Formats: sequence, C-alpha cells, structure tokens
Amino acid sequence: MFVTFEGIEGTGKSTQITLLADWLRARGQEPVITREPGGSRLGGELRRILLSMESTDITGPAELFLYLADRAQHVATLIKPALDQGKTVLSDRFADSTVVYQGYGRGLDPKLLHAFNDVAVAGSWPDLTILLDIDPEVGLRRALARNLAGGTHRSEGRFEAEHLEFHHRIREGYLAWAALHPGRFRVVDAGGSPDEVFGAVRGHVAALLEG
Ligand SMILES: Nc1ncnc2c1ncn2[C@@H]1O[C@H](COP(=O)(O)OP(=O)(O)O)[C@@H](O)[C@H]1O
Ligand SMILES: [Mg+2]
Repeated sequence: MFVTFEGIEGTGKSTQITLLADWLRARGQEPVITREPGGSRLGGELRRILLSMESTDITGPAELFLYLADRAQHVATLIKPALDQGKTVLSDRFADSTVVYQGYGRGLDPKLLHAFNDVAVAGSWPDLTILLDIDPEVGLRRALARNLAGGTHRSEGRFEAEHLEFHHRIREGYLAWAALHPGRFRVVDAGGSPDEVFGAVRGHVAALLEG
C-alpha cells in the first residue's frame, strides 16, 4: 500500500504521518516513512537546494527538473523496492506537489507535468492520496511557528516566505486536481485538532485496507 500526503505548508502532513505510522504499527505493520524532496541520498542534497532561502533565484524549469530528479531517484531506490517487498510506504508529498506547485502555482501546463511525472514515478502511483485542506492563513501561521521554534526558518523557509496569494492559488490548485482524480484522492478538512483530523485520515486508510 502506497499512501501520500499533500497540502500546503502547516496543514499537518508530518503530524498525520506520525499518527498513521503509530496506528499501523499497533496493527503489526512496519511502514516505511519518507518525504519529498529528500527521500534518497541524492534527494537529501536536492532538498537542501530546493528549500533554502538562498535558492530564490532558481528558474521555474530548473526547479521542476530538480523535483523530478529527486522523485525518479526516490521511487527507484526506496519506494518501489519497499512496495515490492510488500511494505506500506507513507510519503510526505509526492508527484501531485509538482503538478500543483509548478502547474497551478507557477503556470506550467498541468497535463505536461503529469506526463513528466509518469516518467519519474515509473508505475508506482499511490493507492491513496490524502489532501489535507486548510485556510492558508491558518496553515502558514502553524508552519511559521514550527520553523521559528525549530530554527529552520532560513534552511527550509522558501515556500513559507511566498506571499499569501500564492498559497491561496496552491490550495485551489490542489482542490481542482483532486477533483480530477477522485479515485485516488481523499480531501480531509485539516482545521480541527490533530486527533480530529486523524479520525478522518484513519477512516480512509482503513477503507483502503479493507478494500
Ligand atoms: N490539527 C492541528 N492543529 C493545530 N496545530 C497543528 C495541527 N497539526 C499540526 N499542527 C502543528 O502545526 C505545525 C505544522 O504541522 P506539520 O505537521 O509540520 O505540517 P506540514 O508537515 O503539513 O507542514 C506543527 O508545529 C504541528 O505541531
Ligand atoms: Mg511537514
């Protein structure tokens, strides 16, 4: 089972993945937890470049190809081998982030991006994608507080520093893209407490497991 989490910064992707992993472990599974960018050795280097405040000069196409390189390596070295061994993989962001951020966010053609993704994903599309949906002002407030508390404001703060209008466009892009892929996407209201949000997440995962 391959489950991905999507949504703007501060929606609670990392929080929900931790809760889901604990829940799966209590059921005897040992999930593989990963993230993009950064799920492979090469990806770790790409993540540093992509998320740093020093990378604000990066061009749209350059950003796109760095994300795709990260994904291709991530799938080939970690995701596909784990799925082939029958493991459950949980990824914090995946291919949909590219369509939404580079497409709806930066104006590249979503259909073209989907074709590029097909090359990078090489058949390992998620079984389930949880879209955590929240008002960007609430999400950014959460993310900013997290980054300041953790001292990662400069090393990981490039997207949080985008203006609010960009994040509204991303949120709308996610909802539009999810509506185009209703078989795989489940939209979850991320405005409640972590436990309330997890109640909905758990329901969707349980439905997939029982499928
Ligand atoms: N449902 C929630 N309500 C309030 N705060 C939350 C909730 N979920 C997560 N948080 C907090 O908000 C911040 C961002 O959450 P995080 O899981 O890191 O989001 P993401 O990974 O989507 O950027 C963290 O400090 C986290 O503890
Ligand atoms: Mg996170």
